[in-house]
Amino acid sequence: MSRAKTFPALPTFCPDADPLEIFRAGLAAANGPMTLACSFSIDDVVLIDLLKNHLKELTVFALDTGRLPEETYEVAETVSQRYGIAIQWYFPERAAVEQLEREKGLFSFRESVANRKECCFVRKVEPLHRALSGFAGWVTGLRRAQSVTREELAPLEIDSANGGLLKISPLLYWSDDQVTNYASENRVPVNRLHREGYPSIGCAPCTRAVQPGEHPRAGRWWWEGPEHKECGLHKR
Ligand code: ADX
Ligand code: SF4
Repeated sequence: MSRAKTFPALPTFCPDADPLEIFRAGLAAANGPMTLACSFSIDDVVLIDLLKNHLKELTVFALDTGRLPEETYEVAETVSQRYGIAIQWYFPERAAVEQLEREKGLFSFRESVANRKECCFVRKVEPLHRALSGFAGWVTGLRRAQSVTREELAPLEIDSANGGLLKISPLLYWSDDQVTNYASENRVPVNRLHREGYPSIGCAPCTRAVQPGEHPRAGRWWWEGPEHKECGLHKR
């Protein structure tokens, strides 16, 4: 039987904490192999740039759901070359995708929240479990400002939904402006969809551009209410 790792009491941080301070505290607390989850959105590439002197201490993985936008694959190649990272790609289980598509078609996620969560489970959550296997900690680009569902996250958390490893979110307190300013000042490669009105980018059929004044995540699963806009990667 596998047993969840135990951690010493986790430190807390001020809202103006430096992302590197959060990362280093996470590295010390995890005290084991760490991996970084990269969706190739601006937050995650900014995170990689901030951690560029630590990349030898991390692997970087990405979940290829099979439905990502072409622009995401393009920026992924640029990021891989620019930072010298061999991205660990994870694909969904072939049999599960075949069954889902044969039984429910290619757009079942538009029919109900349950169907959408089923697709997210097959294409994201199950591959995430494989990607995290054997790691003591994972690093994410989550920020409180992204969503009402993320306002109570802590920079270091025990991720019980994924077997009890440590989850580290160094950008947790950063605003949208801090991220975009850092990206332009440091010439970080940016997914070109961000310049075309997509503040938040996921799978192609579940992401659209937002109108001026709309919430940045309004284009994700736009047919659902804001309280549902999570795909299961970040269950608490
Ligand atoms: S989602 O849950 O709504 O899809 P979001 O796009 O906001 O998540 O990304 C939040 C964090 O989850 C990212 O910063 C990244 O760490 C991780 N993440 C999201 N999508 C992927 C992906 N396809 N591959 C790897 N990590 C991802
Ligand atoms: Fe499926 Fe859409 Fe979830 Fe991607 S975001 S896994 S296409 S429901």
